[in-house]
Amino acid sequence: MNRFTLIASTIVFAALFWFTSATSADLAPQKALAPEQFEILENGDPEQSAKIARKCAKCHGKDGISDDDEVPHLAGQNPRYVFKQLWDYKHKYRNGGRVKRIAKKLGPQEIANLTARFCASELPTMEDVEIPAPPTLVEHGDASRGVDACVDCHQTDGTSKDGDPDLPLLAGMPYKYFVETMLSFKDGLRYNDPDGVMGKIANAISEQEIETLAEYYLALGQRKRMPEEDWAEDWVTDVR
Ligand code: HEC
Ligand code: HEC
Repeated sequence: MNRFTLIASTIVFAALFWFTSATSADLAPQKALAPEQFEILENGDPEQSAKIARKCAKCHGKDGISDDDEVPHLAGQNPRYVFKQLWDYKHKYRNGGRVKRIAKKLGPQEIANLTARFCASELPTMEDVEIPAPPTLVEHGDASRGVDACVDCHQTDGTSKDGDPDLPLLAGMPYKYFVETMLSFKDGLRYNDPDGVMGKIANAISEQEIETLAEYYLALGQRKRMPEEDWAEDWVTDVR
């Protein structure tokens, strides 16, 4: 390599380094939204954004009650949590196939309108659901593995509504979605939780423990497993 190519390639490498570090800094996940970013939610109008809402309803149900085990309910979900998730999909801090593509085009006011619409209904309970005793991890965690008790953040009833306003409702969550999202936290595919708390927890527990937790939280919301669907539908390939 002569002197000229050496200098030229040094400049190219330096430029490349500067470019990639600047880009990744710009894309760094914003783990928690500032309180003022939620103010727009107060003016969320469920009557607006009806056209887009029809698209969401295809998967999440008209009132945000999903009938698909892989699609989360929005009904009963904490509005601030839903707002943050749509924000995260929009800004590529959370993967999520079709949702991410739709969210990319939404403005903050539309996100607020859709949140107001889909969080308006409660998640209905079902009859004859027996709630099992909570698994040890729920009430006590496991100090030897550095796992905090779920109730510390998600409350005993799995709602978290009166606790931290940014936390999701877990009670009644579809079984498959619960398992999938915990596995996404485990393998680092989902990383939008503030301080990486869920990633750390999911990483320390087994898939079998995740399944037991999913069963428990489904029953806690007095909901039952949904029937298996035909997963050959076209969107399935791009949701994860
Ligand atoms: C093609 C089906 C589909 C459509 C259309 C769709 N979603 Fe979703 N949605 C999903 C799936 C599947 C997930 C779980 C994805 C993941 O793992 O991140 C999800 C996740 C979400 C979440 C995160 C919920 C949670 O508990 O973390 C929110 C919020 C959401 N969608 C809102 C919407 C809104 C609002 C629209 C319309 C603008 C929409 N979705 C359109 C299938 C869909
Ligand atoms: C230190 C607080 C903390 C503890 C302890 C905790 N979580 Fe979480 N969890 C969170 C936060 C914060 C989020 C929301 C992350 C985000 O903004 O995306 C979350 C999200 C979740 C989600 C995703 C919800 C959704 O709608 O997609 C599941 C499932 C979950 N937690 C299960 C658990 C289980 C099971 C335990 C106990 C083994 C647990 N968590 C312990 C703070 C905690």
